[in-house]
Amino acid sequence: MKILLVGGGGREHAVAAAIKRSPQHPLLYTAMSKKNPGIAALSEEVFICDEKDAGAIASFAKEKGIDMAFVGPEAPLSAGVSDALWAAGVPTVGPTKNCAKIETDKAWARKFIEKHGIEGNPKYGVFTDYEPAAAFIDELSDVAVKPAGLTGGKGVKVMGDQLPDIAAAKEYTKEVLKGDSVVIEERFIGEEFTLQALVDGKHLAFCPTVQDHKRAYEGDLGPNTGGMGAYTNAGALLPFIQPDEYEKAKQIMQATVSAFPRETGAEFKGILYGQFILTKNGPKLIEYNARFGDPEAMNVLSLLESDMAAVMKAIVTGTLDQMTIEFSKKATVCKYAVPAGYPDNPKKDAEIQVIGGAGNTGSTGGAGNTGSIGSVLKGPSADLIIYYSSVYEKDGIIYTTNSRSIGVVGLASSIEEAEKISQDALDKVITGDLFFRRDIGTPALVQKRIDHMNELRGQK
Ligand code: GLY
Repeated sequence: MKILLVGGGGREHAVAAAIKRSPQHPLLYTAMSKKNPGIAALSEEVFICDEKDAGAIASFAKEKGIDMAFVGPEAPLSAGVSDALWAAGVPTVGPTKNCAKIETDKAWARKFIEKHGIEGNPKYGVFTDYEPAAAFIDELSDVAVKPAGLTGGKGVKVMGDQLPDIAAAKEYTKEVLKGDSVVIEERFIGEEFTLQALVDGKHLAFCPTVQDHKRAYEGDLGPNTGGMGAYTNAGALLPFIQPDEYEKAKQIMQATVSAFPRETGAEFKGILYGQFILTKNGPKLIEYNARFGDPEAMNVLSLLESDMAAVMKAIVTGTLDQMTIEFSKKATVCKYAVPAGYPDNPKKDAEIQVIGGAGNTGSTGGAGNTGSIGSVLKGPSADLIIYYSSVYEKDGIIYTTNSRSIGVVGLASSIEEAEKISQDALDKVITGDLFFRRDIGTPALVQKRIDHMNELRGQK
């Protein structure tokens, strides 16, 4: 079996590693804009290309006799790479361009949810002109301001957070309107969580819930990033989510998947990522993505025990209901090591060392806490996996780019223990001009989330 993977980040390294764990021993072909050394080491052949060049990727797939494909990032989905692969006879995990609008067009997504009577939307308005947008900000008085198009997770600004007051919200609205339409939404108060599902058009198989950390610095301070790290609990529910809240989030996603054929004439086949905020009134939708999260993919795919090639087959053939998808009941903590100065002024082309690592995929051979690139390093009670993200290799040395560098995932029976594994590897195994957030997954920060939700529920 030959599988093509499109994309070259940490998320795709986790997808590649899951595919290569398949007992069917698929051959992996990859298409990416920059050679990720971890993915390259797992690949039969790497096609360096513009990941949005649908025609070139479909031709490569045909030439290599690819049986199935997986499109990782949003940019190729939005460019129609899945459409081109299906048209070339390659069944593909990753929605068509039209279905990917759930992520790539925030205005379309809000209207779609509203039109099909799906719960979870805030009060919102979509504007192309400043005056009505400003009037709506006055009406809601506490808002989130979102560019309608793709921004890599960095375009959304929220009052009480990046926007100190109404004047700042209006100023940012003006700025967004220079290049895009703007979505103004009621601000929700609560705790964010991510629920990802494998979707075959009709059926959803849910991954464990994850909480990401968008801010660059400890204490949830500093600029927004693509995500500095994320954790899962042992089992499906994060410690601050109650079972009925989880069920509600699942229902919202199920209703969304069911609505796609009515809206677009096509089924959504791929990964649906629900970004929820848990409020005192239950889960509300912040946004959808049409792909795995990054870093969230590294958490959940490190736990996947089922055969990834079989999972992909079930997604493309609409038969997910006929298989049970198993995730290990361990907790995970994934922390990203990022270049000094990230995200505003990242130090690129700086050397990184993963002790015993570089571009190899095997065990690093080191005792205790040295890492294993893309494969599980088993410990007595906990495991470690290291994924390469936006790095490149030259003459056997790994260098930073201007984005997140290395994802380090600890897996253990508790979040606390998984955090220690991840942090220990960051302290002892990875060197370079990098930084990371020590607080992600620590008992103190997890307890803060639990206390916050308890306080909100008490206000009901
Ligand atoms: N971690 C956020 C995202 O992937 O969009």
